[in-house]
Amino acid sequence: MSKKFYITTPIYYVNDVPHIGHAYTTIAADVAARYKRLGGHDVFFLTGTDEHGQKVQQAAIEAGKSPQDHVDSLYIRFKELWQKLNISHTDFIRTTEPRHKKVVQEILQDLHDRGEIYKDSYEGWYCMPDERFWTEKDLVDGNCPECGRKVEKIKEYNYFFKMGQHQDWLIEQIQSNEKFILPASRRNEVLGFLQKPLEDLCISRPKERLSWGIPLPFDDDYVTYVWFDALINYISVHGSLADVRASGYWPACHHLIGKDILTTHAVYWSTMLKAMDLAVPDNIFAHGWWTVNGQKMSKSLRNVVEPNLLIEQFGVDVIRYFLLREVPFGLDGDFSHKALIGRINSDLANNLGNLVNRTLNMLGKYFKGIVPQPDAAGDEDALLKKKCSEVVGEVDKLFDELAFSKILMKIWELLDTSNQYINNTAPWNLAKSEEGKKRLATVMYNSAEAVRVIGILISPFMPETGDKIMAQLGIDTPVNQQGLDSLKQWGWIKAETQTHQGAQIFPRIDDPAAAKLLASIETGSEPEKTEPPEQITIEDVMKLDLRTAKILEAEKVKKSKKLIKLKVDLGNEQRQVLAGIAETYEPEQLIGRTVILVANLKPAKLMGLESQGMILAGSSGKKIVLAGFDEALDLGARVK
Ligand code: MSP
Repeated sequence: MSKKFYITTPIYYVNDVPHIGHAYTTIAADVAARYKRLGGHDVFFLTGTDEHGQKVQQAAIEAGKSPQDHVDSLYIRFKELWQKLNISHTDFIRTTEPRHKKVVQEILQDLHDRGEIYKDSYEGWYCMPDERFWTEKDLVDGNCPECGRKVEKIKEYNYFFKMGQHQDWLIEQIQSNEKFILPASRRNEVLGFLQKPLEDLCISRPKERLSWGIPLPFDDDYVTYVWFDALINYISVHGSLADVRASGYWPACHHLIGKDILTTHAVYWSTMLKAMDLAVPDNIFAHGWWTVNGQKMSKSLRNVVEPNLLIEQFGVDVIRYFLLREVPFGLDGDFSHKALIGRINSDLANNLGNLVNRTLNMLGKYFKGIVPQPDAAGDEDALLKKKCSEVVGEVDKLFDELAFSKILMKIWELLDTSNQYINNTAPWNLAKSEEGKKRLATVMYNSAEAVRVIGILISPFMPETGDKIMAQLGIDTPVNQQGLDSLKQWGWIKAETQTHQGAQIFPRIDDPAAAKLLASIETGSEPEKTEPPEQITIEDVMKLDLRTAKILEAEKVKKSKKLIKLKVDLGNEQRQVLAGIAETYEPEQLIGRTVILVANLKPAKLMGLESQGMILAGSSGKKIVLAGFDEALDLGARVK
């Protein structure tokens, strides 16, 4: 039976507009879940929304809606964003669902019956927005120590969970288990907090003050404190306590959270579990916070980074990659579009994209796109294979520590070794002799296998890219079915596989395009805003002499990143044309294609070379696609 792996994100406050901070935890959990699935684990990955409490009640009143209608209209924003980000959660829990409320009430009743919950009068300072009680000595300048806002003096009866009695047990639990709270600095913080006496936890709110919550099963005048309710989501998703025990998913392997909610998890949740007689999770990992261009994200500063917009501008995989690569998991990080574009160009376009492209390109050029049978071996092969097995092993260890950025660095070491392998073996020289061609077959086979291994390893981080790489390699077996097992031995890819080279997987964002994009982001304007296009007449259209033409020759223009020099045949004449498509197409891909030429364009000189016409292509964002036909046409035929 496959091993169970249970991973959770916090459940997000349904009132909040999802931003990159929320996306960060969810992407991290998704990457771990996907990796464990690759390894054959039976994965349960949980996320959801936290829907009770004062803020929700307040916002519903302001919106003129019932709290339930209000949350029903809001949680969708998270669900939809997770879909766009390719999040592969097993379940999405909402704390207003009957299945959750039922378990919370069962647990409360059980704890009450067993004397773990008692009623007492309470006098203290209450922070309304944070829904938390503070003692006199906690206050900072008379205000809430957490948010700095005004507090109110409150005296009322409430229910308390006997949290304090578990203090020694909790300290022992943390001290004897290094992995329980990570990173180590956060573990020390919790131990520091536990040096002060641990008080009992107030777990109720009188209905007259707050009605939007789960009613206490033993006293109808009260609802449950929102954190006591919310934390239980991690088990209520599996059913009652008996179901949780039987599910095999408890204890959870990892609770991923942000550093701000460490106390609630490490202290409240652990002691709650102890009282319920359930084991604590194997690990609570508290990651850092994202700032934006050095500032805290906030609505008032209008600098909240909206993930939907980022996905539209840059693509999902780029965002997933950036967030996990840029900052070591556990530390704070700073988001900037400039850093994002930097990573796209250096790591993704120049490195990963280039390796895939050159490998597929040479397979096309030397073996008609068919993966050859390896033939003559060479010294360089062993190095590549060794690096590969080393990286596969280290990645596996690093996943246990959730060291995402280190994992990506390791995979990129393999990328460098693969690029180096091609440079050292120089396929272009091998192709020149019959003897060299035998070695060439091995080099191209190994390069294709290395690209496959890299495709598998990056797929948890960039699922769409992993699939694209497999499609270009012509491998039908999905990434998950290949799995980590396919990386244990070199040579999974079959000789004779027909590859299909496609467009560059990560085109570069060149400097002018990046500058435009950054300027539009800074000013908050739509990128590339244009006036409504001027209308033209049919006569204007007919002025264009568009003709079909076949590309006979293609070569890159030296010293130009973009230009390719083409020789095209129009049936009755041949022309030289320069096209700015070198970042998307390799010259070899172009030869033999029929394209559309603007034949009556005045000749112009580019980089000292004459261009006698222009080829039509469509572009969207960074992508350029040549216009063409789905059937053959005579050369020189008029296009209207
Ligand atoms: N509802 C509670 C969690 C209950 S779990 C039983 C909550 N929700 S939240 O929506 O406010 O925050 C959810 C998560 O988002 C937290 O882990 C928090 O750390 C994270 N982030 C919110 N802003 C963030 C950044 N700017 N950067 C990184 N993560 C941040 O707390």
